[in-house]
Amino acid sequence: QKPDIEINEKLKNLCQYLQDNVSYYNWVGYYFANHDNQTLHLGPYVGAETDHTVIPFGKGICGQVAVSNQNFVVPDVAAQDNYIACSITVKSEIVVPLFVRGENIGQIDIDSHVIDPFTESDERFLEFVNKEVAKLY
Ligand code: SME
Repeated sequence: QKPDIEINEKLKNLCQYLQDNVSYYNWVGYYFANHDNQTLHLGPYVGAETDHTVIPFGKGICGQVAVSNQNFVVPDVAAQDNYIACSITVKSEIVVPLFVRGENIGQIDIDSHVIDPFTESDERFLEFVNKEVAKLY
């Protein structure tokens, strides 16, 4: 297993690359699961600083994905009850779990400043990205 510091540098570069190249990817980051205490922990990210560095499983969009193991596309965050707001500029969000050897170890989380930008192409693309990321582990 490679040291986390090496993987984190790669993930940070990946987040930066995605944010630079997709106009509606405004905040891009990874959260990682701690299965012992059922929390998500913020890893590498680009975009506005966030207070939400630790998120309990089940809470917010991210916390729900930790439990459901499914992609979660939110076209309009204002329509969600179980949502953790990071910034009023965020209008929509997509979260895609990261599986390593079948285990949901975390997720990529992307916030957008526009309403309803995410399509199935984003889901397929981010699933592909996470399959590549899984190879680092
Ligand atoms: N909006 C997320 C919280 C994380 S921030 O987007 C960085 C949620 O509801 O889980």
